[in-house]
Amino acid sequence: MLDKDIERVLVSPEEIHAAVVRLGAQLTQDYRGKEVVVVGILRGAAVFMADIVREMDIYLDIDFMDVSSYGEETESSGEVKIIKDLDTRLEGRHVLVVEDIIDTGRTLNYLVELFKYRKAASVKVCTLLDKPERRIVKNLIPDYVGLEVPNEFVVGYGLDFKQKYRNLPYIGVLKPEVYQ
Ligand code: XMP
Ligand code: MG
Repeated sequence: MLDKDIERVLVSPEEIHAAVVRLGAQLTQDYRGKEVVVVGILRGAAVFMADIVREMDIYLDIDFMDVSSYGEETESSGEVKIIKDLDTRLEGRHVLVVEDIIDTGRTLNYLVELFKYRKAASVKVCTLLDKPERRIVKNLIPDYVGLEVPNEFVVGYGLDFKQKYRNLPYIGVLKPEVYQ
């Protein structure tokens, strides 16, 4: 049913799974023996978060944060409003931020600075998708990247258009008539 709105599939379920398994193995190695808090950014990262933590064979805490970025509809401004904050104290703990996609980098740049201010022992970023072409905050370099995508608006596997399509099992590009 949802398929009819999709122009083309950019990342198949198999490719997503392969990326998640690869990242999970790397994270398991890098965080073994550390007190890690995995922070998922709602709502886009919820699907990726559920999959990636099950590939991490270490003790970890999970928490979520919901933020909204002020600005135009299509681009974040860097001024971030916290809708739901963490319930976990970060002081002295290693924080792994899990995000669906990095675009300009403004949202994550704000969060990384906030978590450092809260005295996290380290702050690293794991994103399923990266749109490097669109980066404005040049020093925001994600530590773990699933896949790079071109500068197109993508939906599926957590990512939405007007809150829909998050439940697609793949990542795709919408047909122009859907968003025009
Ligand atoms: P910045 O620009 O701060 O924004 O890196 C990251 C946030 O922008 C959203 N975003 C997208 N959402 N398809 C989406 O569904 C996209 O192609 C896309 N590009 C950016 C996303 O919410 C991310 O957290
Ligand atoms: Mg998001």
